[in-house]
Amino acid sequence: MSKGRVLATGGTGYIGSHAVVELIKAGYEVEIIDNLYNSKAGVLGKIVELTGVGPKFYTVDMCNRAALMEVFTRGNYDAVIHFAGLKAVGESTEQPLHYYENNVGGTLNLLECMRAYGVKKIVFSSSATVYGVQESPKCEESMPTGAGITNPYGKTKFMIEEILKDATVADPSLEVSILRYFNPIGAHPSGLLGEDPNDRPNNLMPIVMKVATGEIEKLTVYGNDYSTPDGTCVRDYIHVVDLVKGHLATLERMRPGVQIYNLGTGRGVSVMEIIEAFSRVSGMQLPYEIGARRAGDLGSLYADPSLAERELGWRTELTVEDAMRDTLAYLRKEGLKLRA
Ligand code: WQD
Repeated sequence: MSKGRVLATGGTGYIGSHAVVELIKAGYEVEIIDNLYNSKAGVLGKIVELTGVGPKFYTVDMCNRAALMEVFTRGNYDAVIHFAGLKAVGESTEQPLHYYENNVGGTLNLLECMRAYGVKKIVFSSSATVYGVQESPKCEESMPTGAGITNPYGKTKFMIEEILKDATVADPSLEVSILRYFNPIGAHPSGLLGEDPNDRPNNLMPIVMKVATGEIEKLTVYGNDYSTPDGTCVRDYIHVVDLVKGHLATLERMRPGVQIYNLGTGRGVSVMEIIEAFSRVSGMQLPYEIGARRAGDLGSLYADPSLAERELGWRTELTVEDAMRDTLAYLRKEGLKLRA
């Protein structure tokens, strides 16, 4: 008996593909739309390998409302999980219009399709970036958002949250869950799925992976003069498998109105601790140098995950070391060798 039909936008991406696997394993019928801008169709075969199920896949761009509407004519979806979006902070500063058109415009197209076909449930992949600059490094959902967001990527996430809130005022039967991701890392323990961006990586872990394989000479630590224990920036690194299990937890508890949850471990980890954990797990010394601060970086940012624990019965179970181990397994499965 199916638990329901779910459309995963961006479902061949890093987070999306891990979520599709968990959704299928939990008994959902899943369909995927993705434009493959930052993912590869080969992921579909990995999903089959992991679940025995080949989700229907549509190569559709969220900006193409007609094509998106066409998908909904046959979809008969109970819910949408909206992963699709451009997410490179640096690129968003260089190409703001592209980011607003894709992330915000694409979401408006999606919401119009949902309205046309009576789909009432949406889970939105948001980001801790919406917290902008706060007094406290520990982020709670009740905090005001939007102030001090330094890049268009983060502003698109903030704007989409506001659009979803306004949409539920206009249609109180809408059921919206906004999930604010902190720093997703790691890979599927099978080694079959992992972070494999087409674009130049901005994020720490994909860069660590490229340094580990020799594609990048050394890691530049963006500053060690922050007021943190070791001077390097502190973030909340959450294993991608824990992250996607948070999506299942919220999907099973959707209700009319807007729910907002932090998906993080609640623990802050510094850049140096990430480097040390990778070296400990991999057995290799990761080459790095201390460089200048990166514009827009905050010294510390991590989640208060207690609301998700309380209301969703969800908490993280995997560690940074688990994420490093799974990342290495993924690299090896991909045939990538660690540098000597
Ligand atoms: C983490 C830490 C860097 C690279 C952003 C987005 C957020 C989400 C995750 C998409 C920082 C340091 C990094 C490097 C370094 N986006 N670093 N050298 O900035 O916390 O968050 O990515 O899912 O919405 O805002 O993540 O991985 O870019 O950086 O020292 O080569 O690693 O300074 O402190 P960030 P990040």
